[in-house]
Amino acid sequence: MSKEDSTAPPKPAAPKPVATAKPVAAKTVPRRSFLSWMTVAWAAFTASMLAAATATTRFMFPNVLFEPPPTFKAGFPNEIQVGQVDERFKQKNAVWLVRDPSGIYALSTVCTHLGCTPNWLEAEQKFKCPCHGSGYYKSGINFEGPTPRPLERYAISLADDGQILVDKSRKFQYEKGEWDNPASFLKL
Ligand code: FES
Repeated sequence: MSKEDSTAPPKPAAPKPVATAKPVAAKTVPRRSFLSWMTVAWAAFTASMLAAATATTRFMFPNVLFEPPPTFKAGFPNEIQVGQVDERFKQKNAVWLVRDPSGIYALSTVCTHLGCTPNWLEAEQKFKCPCHGSGYYKSGINFEGPTPRPLERYAISLADDGQILVDKSRKFQYEKGEWDNPASFLKL
């Protein structure tokens, strides 16, 4: 090894590495969060489309309560015995047909207290409401419990073919003297 020449100019110092600013990484959305964002967006979009479709469907097919027509035929008068409460039309039409010695009347099955449906008790010859205990005679007139007034009657007549025709669009209330209306009673 040769000794360095002391007269030789000193070697320039190696340049210090210049501290350069680190390149700013472009802000990127991590792949996972991007996917979950897309999932949420799609879910929201799908939900809004479903809501719109539901609204459209409801518009096209509105909620309609299908009720039986107010007028119905109830068979022939001789199918009901004198003194009988005919319950054939209770479920479908909410009507009792009652025959007395002079004719037939159509009683509403709606309790005039709060609207429950009473039961006909043959042994006790009365209508009894299961909700609060109101009782009605066979005629429909109230005699016990909280109800303030009799059952209502509907218009009744004979159709051209001889069958009983009940028209529920016309009601008759005893307390208003409407049971005197000939349309509220089918004379036989
Ligand atoms: S609803 Fe009939 S007694 Fe109350």
